[in-house]
Amino acid sequence: MKTILSTLWAGLSTTLFRTKPVDDLVSEDNSEGPKLNKVLTAWDVFTHGVAAIIGTGIFVLTGVAAANHAGPGIILSFVLSGLACTFVSFAYSELASMIPKSGSAYTYAYATMGEVVAWFIGWDLLLEYCVGASAVAVGWSAYLQNILKGLGIVLPGFLAHAPADMPWKNVGLAAGLLTFGVIGLTVNWRAMLKGSKLHLLKAAGSAALIAVGLWQALIAASFTTSIDILAVAIIAFINFWLIKGVKHTARMTAVFVVIKLAVIALFIAIGAWHVNPTNWVPFLPFGWTGVFTGAAVVFFAFIGFDAVSTLAEECKNPKQDMPRGIIGSLIVCGILYLAVSAIMTGVLSYKLLGGTEAAAPMALVMNHIGAWWASPLVSVGAIAGITSVLIVLLFGQSRIMMSMSRDGLISPIFSRIHPRFQTPVWAIVIWGVLAALTAGLIPIGELAELTSIGTLAAFVLCCLGVIVLRRTEPDRERKFRCPGYPFVPAAGAVLSLALMASLPWITWIRFVIWLAIGMVIYFIYGRKHSTLAKKNGL
Ligand code: ALA
Repeated sequence: MKTILSTLWAGLSTTLFRTKPVDDLVSEDNSEGPKLNKVLTAWDVFTHGVAAIIGTGIFVLTGVAAANHAGPGIILSFVLSGLACTFVSFAYSELASMIPKSGSAYTYAYATMGEVVAWFIGWDLLLEYCVGASAVAVGWSAYLQNILKGLGIVLPGFLAHAPADMPWKNVGLAAGLLTFGVIGLTVNWRAMLKGSKLHLLKAAGSAALIAVGLWQALIAASFTTSIDILAVAIIAFINFWLIKGVKHTARMTAVFVVIKLAVIALFIAIGAWHVNPTNWVPFLPFGWTGVFTGAAVVFFAFIGFDAVSTLAEECKNPKQDMPRGIIGSLIVCGILYLAVSAIMTGVLSYKLLGGTEAAAPMALVMNHIGAWWASPLVSVGAIAGITSVLIVLLFGQSRIMMSMSRDGLISPIFSRIHPRFQTPVWAIVIWGVLAALTAGLIPIGELAELTSIGTLAAFVLCCLGVIVLRRTEPDRERKFRCPGYPFVPAAGAVLSLALMASLPWITWIRFVIWLAIGMVIYFIYGRKHSTLAKKNGL
């Protein structure tokens, strides 16, 4: 029995933990076929980083986090979260400078910890980007609706928000049946066309699953009473731009970055003169526990610097530009966050930041000071800021999907590059539609925490990846070396785990369900279609 088990495990571990040699990853650039456009400079990477980082976190979450969790100690929450992200950014920079590919942590895991871990992290990143983009789009819609309301324009209820009650049973059934039906068809299609009766039967079964899935989707749709139309519209609009090409996107992103930085500079310049230090006393009304919970909440504000690494393949000089872009943007944003949170809690008592206007805490502070003219400007900056976050998340999502598809772990359709636009058009469209539907139909709420847990899990594995590669590939050229090795990557992993532990258990359960679905897909499709497996005859 013991021998059978150990033979089984030996066989399984050879396939599950097969790693993709770094040489193969780098040489994929020389392969045939349409390529991504290499047009981005270090400046583009930096702006992309700032674009991804500053958004809902600082414009929306800071006030609530200060009022409910940390008090003025929110400044320390930002320090703690920022410290964890700085350590992780060093790890990302080392890996991105070594393996300049668009798959981010997914690709790094493939090179270091094996295929099954890579799949795990790729699937997890899709959660981060898809759910994250949906959550951010809902925030965008709420901000715009606020501004429109000020102008006397109110959207009808059925277009303003997601339905209160979704027929979850039908939605779940539809999603499950459609997923497995499509996988079944993809797997059996070719053999069926060649005349295999068995595969014809399996394909027919898959088609039946799709038909029942569509029926369930129709039932769910008939119960849907409202939709957040602005959230759907903004995702559709950004995806349209992403299809047209990365240089267009970079230009649009740069404009949004300038607007939001100008607005934050304005907030700091005005607010700094009105700080009343007595508002910082007591500094830790909720103690250190509050600071830690606050850190887990405001961690959302730092998400995005990792998404910069998905640009690697579209950079002119990725080995140099990646570390500069990732670390530079994180440090600049971290400093701005400290200034904004110090001013916010210094001008207004933290207790007042959690009221009904808490969704727009920066505008609230401007109103309190009496700078009425600055308040709408801050709102415009918030809209611009949140828009650019959406651009980067949706962009990152398509690039991760493309990398997983190129490796054969998911349908090849996702890595097809459009000959004219040179973008992975199907990866953008299919996941864009999913993100838009999620944003429009699902009341996001706690789901935003799913974004954080997914990101933190990727961070842990990235830090471990640095340690593994230093051991397995000690002599490979690293244009950037993580300082303080091995303390820094180890501390990055531990701090990320600590932040994960501060998230509610329900978030953990949702996270585990998502990963379990991913694992089923991997075992049905990915493991057998992996290009690495075919290459090595496994
Ligand atoms: N860091 C991004 C934001 O705050 C996700 O919106």
